[in-house]
Amino acid sequence: MSVTETASAEQELIDTLPPIFRWGVATASYQIEGAVAEDGRTPSIWDTFSRVPGAVHNGDTGDVACDHYHRMPADVELMKSLDVDTYRFSVAWPRIQPRGRGKLNEAGMAFYDRLVDRLLDKGIDPWLTLYHWDLPQELEDAGGWPSRDTAYRFADYSMLVFDRLSDRVRNWTTLNEPWCSAMHGYVHGVMAPGRRDLGDGIAAVHHLLLGHGLATERMRSAAQRRIEFGITLNMGTSEPADESEPARDAARRADGLGVRIYLDPLVYGRYPSDVVEDLAAQGVRVPVRDGDLAIIAAPLDFLGVNYYFGQQFAAVDEPVPFGRPKTAMGWEILPDKFTDLLVRLSQDYPGLPMFITENGSAFDDVPDENGFVRDDDRAAYLSSHIAAVAAARQAGADIRGYFAWSLLDNFEWAYGYEKRFGLVRVDYETQRRTIKRSGHWFRDTIRRVRQGQ
Ligand code: NOJ
Repeated sequence: MSVTETASAEQELIDTLPPIFRWGVATASYQIEGAVAEDGRTPSIWDTFSRVPGAVHNGDTGDVACDHYHRMPADVELMKSLDVDTYRFSVAWPRIQPRGRGKLNEAGMAFYDRLVDRLLDKGIDPWLTLYHWDLPQELEDAGGWPSRDTAYRFADYSMLVFDRLSDRVRNWTTLNEPWCSAMHGYVHGVMAPGRRDLGDGIAAVHHLLLGHGLATERMRSAAQRRIEFGITLNMGTSEPADESEPARDAARRADGLGVRIYLDPLVYGRYPSDVVEDLAAQGVRVPVRDGDLAIIAAPLDFLGVNYYFGQQFAAVDEPVPFGRPKTAMGWEILPDKFTDLLVRLSQDYPGLPMFITENGSAFDDVPDENGFVRDDDRAAYLSSHIAAVAAARQAGADIRGYFAWSLLDNFEWAYGYEKRFGLVRVDYETQRRTIKRSGHWFRDTIRRVRQGQ
């Protein structure tokens, strides 16, 4: 197919999405807010980690980021001009509870109060994530996620936010991508807090899930009106690169640690036995106590799916490329795997409405003299992936919304500011925002689908 033919085939699929489909943009506190020492906020594990020499590209930190803490009203205007109906953001725990425990820090809470009010005022639905990786440093010093106590601290923190905002926020996500918190944070050492121990990572998985369950249970029983509770997981496809037994086994293991170790306990209240056995063979036990799994399996109203790529495995545990084009992150562009993932989730975990809480791409943007970026690559990525979502819906998957990552270029964790995911360009020298071509494309697409054309 020619480029134009592909685009119009995708558009046809996209146009099968219903007018009530939710459209949003997503961000996360540490990646955009800056103002890290204001109004009582204390350091999170990312403030600490980003100061470790060599941990983050170029020595970048979130100290200023997109200065969203001071520019929030203008950023809400930007969302408005993209015509989204939903804004997915996260709350910075160290603003709410600077020591990770104890009473609410009013000054920190006030920011989210204002944000929510402004969003509602502009007709944008707030979609709140409680934990997008900025653990108060004091809790890491007390053991971090490998320590069971952190799960209880998370539930207490969640209640502070819930008590204040549940009169206005209807959609609550406990955790963003616990795989990254546990594996990249405690096993691979490439994200905060930068530890490298498989046992710690698996304990982190369990305590993240326990924290999710404890928080969900408490928030649900405190709810004064209909509230939707969910969790966001990053998932991809893992398939064998050939028919060999070792390849099949490597794919199974990757799927076990990437998908099933989260969704099996969340949905069915049990850890997958093959994963437990693999871990035992490495001398690692999931630190489950009596009653934990019933807490973790607290009912969910939705599943948030973050998708970026799929993988295939040969004999070794390293993925083997499919040989397809890549984004600036080096991630292969595989929209068909997105459809496969969504259809598979709808079959293995039926009855759970899904929202795409993140999907997007980094490319090496080249702004013109006015700061405008003609990012046809990013627009094409959006088009093929939204079409993939529509295809999955046609195959029976219950997907109700799509939130692009990200509203703004921002602090891409260990990659610093070099990798840009925004639909809106940020000039970090001046903090000027300019909607990219992909942002215009997204807005036009939303309008068309909403009008049912
Ligand atoms: C997933 C994370 O939730 C988000 O914080 C990150 O920036 C994007 N993926 C892109 O890597």
